[in-house]
Amino acid sequence: MTPQLELRGLVAGYGATEILHGIDLRVASGGVTALLGANGAGKTTTLRAVSGLIRPHAGDILLDGKSLLKRSASQIAALGVGHVPDGRGTISELSVEENLQTGGYLLKGRDALHSRMEQMFVWFPILKQRLRQQAGTLSGGEQQMLAIARAMIARPRLLLLDEPSFGIAPLVVRQIFDTLREINRKDGIGVLLIEQNAALALDIAGDAYVLENGRVAVHGASADLKNDAAVRRSYLGG
Ligand SMILES: Nc1ncnc2c1ncn2[C@@H]1O[C@H](COP(=O)(O)OP(=O)(O)OP(=O)(O)O)[C@@H](O)[C@H]1O
Ligand SMILES: [Mg+2]
Repeated sequence: MTPQLELRGLVAGYGATEILHGIDLRVASGGVTALLGANGAGKTTTLRAVSGLIRPHAGDILLDGKSLLKRSASQIAALGVGHVPDGRGTISELSVEENLQTGGYLLKGRDALHSRMEQMFVWFPILKQRLRQQAGTLSGGEQQMLAIARAMIARPRLLLLDEPSFGIAPLVVRQIFDTLREINRKDGIGVLLIEQNAALALDIAGDAYVLENGRVAVHGASADLKNDAAVRRSYLGG
């Protein structure tokens, strides 16, 4: 089956500096794939290349078998790639409602926006209570929920998540991951998930890649990686 996302020999970086030295990676249709690795390994750079924020130097990026190389970031978003960047992927000066509206700008008509907004409140009920609050004043967990909802409202087919658990209390992390699991199962949305917490990532993902200095050091099924003592010791923090 054609993977939903495929990176073939992806070489990318910033200016003349090459950070990714030929990444091969696949996300199965409707699958969850984790992208792990130490600080600076190139995880965020990989997501930026997929969503068109940086231009690859070489290699290819395919969405449902079609190359994204000649597409702009907004075209890639319109093709169904939702990106929740690292840090806070929200506009702090805007309210929760306005953030959701900007996320849904591609939806046709008020009814579509309204019904998607209601779905977001089913997944993240707290957002409904905070509708008029400025995003910058939300708690870290609430901001992360808003960032995910802002990407999800446009009905992406593939969700790129950059460390959704960063700086968030364990209980809220669990809530967010339960919702992500539900989104993946019910809507069949593919997910490429960057996560520092390897145990958490391997729990939700079917397979995982470990990046090391811009190269894939390890790839395997989550269950195999979890049980591989050498992989755990070398790459996953014990
Ligand atoms: N805008 C940029 N300009 C120049 N170099 C950058 C830029 N962003 C990142 N880099 C460099 O690219 C390398 C990979 O960074 P990247 O953010 O992809 O790592 P990461 O795996 O996401 O790390 P972390 O776990 O710390 O988020 C680092 O050496 C970083 O300094
Ligand atoms: Mg990063």
